[in-house]
Amino acid sequence: MERRNFINKIYGGLVGTSLLSFSRAREVGEMLNGPVVVSTWDFGMVANAEAWKILGSGGRSLDAVEKGVRIIESDVNNQTVGIGGLPDRDGYVTLDACIMDETGNAGSVSFLQDIEHPISVARKVMEDTPHVMLAGAGALQYALESGFEKKSLLTDKSKAAWEKWKKKSDYKPIINIENHDTIGMIAMDSQGQLSGACTTSGLAYKMHGRVGDSPVIGAGLYVDNEVGAATATGMGEAVLKTCGSFLVVELMRQGLSPEQACKEAVLRIAKKQNYNDFQIGFLALNKRGETGAYCIHPGFNYSLKDSKNERLVKSKSYIKG
Ligand code: GLY
Repeated sequence: MERRNFINKIYGGLVGTSLLSFSRAREVGEMLNGPVVVSTWDFGMVANAEAWKILGSGGRSLDAVEKGVRIIESDVNNQTVGIGGLPDRDGYVTLDACIMDETGNAGSVSFLQDIEHPISVARKVMEDTPHVMLAGAGALQYALESGFEKKSLLTDKSKAAWEKWKKKSDYKPIINIENHDTIGMIAMDSQGQLSGACTTSGLAYKMHGRVGDSPVIGAGLYVDNEVGAATATGMGEAVLKTCGSFLVVELMRQGLSPEQACKEAVLRIAKKQNYNDFQIGFLALNKRGETGAYCIHPGFNYSLKDSKNERLVKSKSYIKG
């Protein structure tokens, strides 16, 4: 049976029209606007600009997403990613990151300390080891052996915030535009190849040893080059329980648009979890270069860049503002 007919037969009644157009786009490799990159939050604008130096000159999406998020990892004023990130409750800045390429390869580091660019360590794990994920002391050992330099990541500003927090030890896990969390970046290059990267210092004042969704393939990030890519920001525990990014990609496989897929993933979280206490934002890109997002509380936005646009996009939310 011809492949398109086969797919139609399986899913026809469910999501017929959108699946057909999506499947056709996939088969002919149709792209709407050429290369495209999207990343979480407003700080994604500068990260996208860096990624575009590669995407705009015909480079590979994997290189673009790594270079893009490194900018935020190095930003001492960003207190949710890399150097300058807020520490855990014991005063340690611990980092989580992962990366995926167009072949489905993946690399990840979690609970990594004293390394400025966890995303590049994650890429090295992916490319130079037989493993996907290295954690803690082992990840640090591997990074140092691979030539990464040890560096203190706790800035005076973050240390002062932690000292202040310790006076009350008040735990407020809502993450929103006022206290952003995590850069997730997904991109398609001029060859139509998809890649993604996700990096964070995780929840501020978390328990020592806590690992969130960001380094977990399928939770904080997922890329399937036949379908699309997705990434997540917000309360990692809620995303982990839902295999959030994998879910979004699988929903796109079934014919949902990026925004519809993100919305459905948010609805599943809202149905089972007490969403009053946390924010989640999903961001997705399909194989046609269409993008979309959805979040629980108002306030999540994402940065988009392609050959025609460079802008901040407000995400729709489950709870209306
Ligand atoms: N989304 C980042 C974290 O929960 O660690």
